[in-house]
Amino acid sequence: MQLFSGSQLYLPQYYMQAIIGNDIKKAKGYLTNGELVAIPTETVYGLAANALNEAAVIKIFEAKNRPQFNPLIVHCSSWQEVINYTQHIPAKAITLANKFTPGPLTFLLDKKDSIPDIVTAGSAKVAVRIPDHPLTLALLKLLDFPLAAPSANPFGYISPTSAQHVYQQLSDKIPYILDGGDAVVGLESTIIGFDENDAVILHRSGGISIEEIEDTLSEKVLLHISIEKNKPETPGQLKSHYSPNTPLYTGNIDELIKKFEGKKIAVISFSKQYNNVDVAHQCILSPKNDLHEAAKNLFAALRMIDALQLDVILAEIFPQEGIGLAINDRLDRARADNK
Ligand code: TXA
Ligand code: MG
Repeated sequence: MQLFSGSQLYLPQYYMQAIIGNDIKKAKGYLTNGELVAIPTETVYGLAANALNEAAVIKIFEAKNRPQFNPLIVHCSSWQEVINYTQHIPAKAITLANKFTPGPLTFLLDKKDSIPDIVTAGSAKVAVRIPDHPLTLALLKLLDFPLAAPSANPFGYISPTSAQHVYQQLSDKIPYILDGGDAVVGLESTIIGFDENDAVILHRSGGISIEEIEDTLSEKVLLHISIEKNKPETPGQLKSHYSPNTPLYTGNIDELIKKFEGKKIAVISFSKQYNNVDVAHQCILSPKNDLHEAAKNLFAALRMIDALQLDVILAEIFPQEGIGLAINDRLDRARADNK
């Protein structure tokens, strides 16, 4: 009779488990070898690869299960480096870069040939930004290539704001997570482009507010209407995004509580506590009514509340000013009736 040893019979499937650490030399080693590394930024964690290495960039799409028609942001260590990969830079971009970078502002600019088409999904424009995080800036300075990096979440789910969030979902897909603590902004960067007259177009609200851009340039920012119509110019700008698994609705919480009577309800509010919902199922994002604090806490709150596996998440609509616009935008995209 043929005997099999236990290990032959029950050979466990091998999964690589990501290491969490803060060693930028180790991160450099993986990236130089064409591997993926999750990197901290001030907005959300990114899933990074050498932007100039097509085979490495493809691994990002595979790990995230992200369609390849959705282009990636290229992260550089300085504006000088941005100039190496872009051309025809409008003067206004430089004014804004001087004021807000490093920081949560991404620029859509004409690309040079050195940026592979896979990074921009075939577009002649590349999205570039200089992230404001000491560890990632130090890493970028060590590298002789920029990093293509989308948010480090499976496609369609909430962006990660801590190394643990990345680990929970991608630990078997990447070798290394560079841990830079909790993201201080907590929402993705603002994305702007320029039209043929160099007017500023907002493609995504984010960490830098429209007001800040308008005050700096003394002119109005144009809204990218195709996003609102859910007919993205670039297919990546899909409206339904950032979604928890639990259906989420936004609006007047008292009315929504009545509407969902009998259901297990979770609430996300700015600063208010609601009487007729279990306090353990409520997330107050900023007791002191600070929109920046609320933005910082939003994604972690959504993940926490999603993990409770209740029937519905009800979220307030936030003041439509400053970073409140970006909070409302993310909640709007997460809505169950928006899919
Ligand atoms: O804060 C952020 O921007 C984070 C951190 C990691 O930097 N990154 C991020 O990347 O949010 P991602 O891939 O999750 O979102 C980037 C957005 C997508 O909607 C994509 O379609 C758009 O930027 N985008 C990137 N390159 C583009 C391009 N060449 N043309 C138009 N849209 C572009
Ligand atoms: Mg994303």
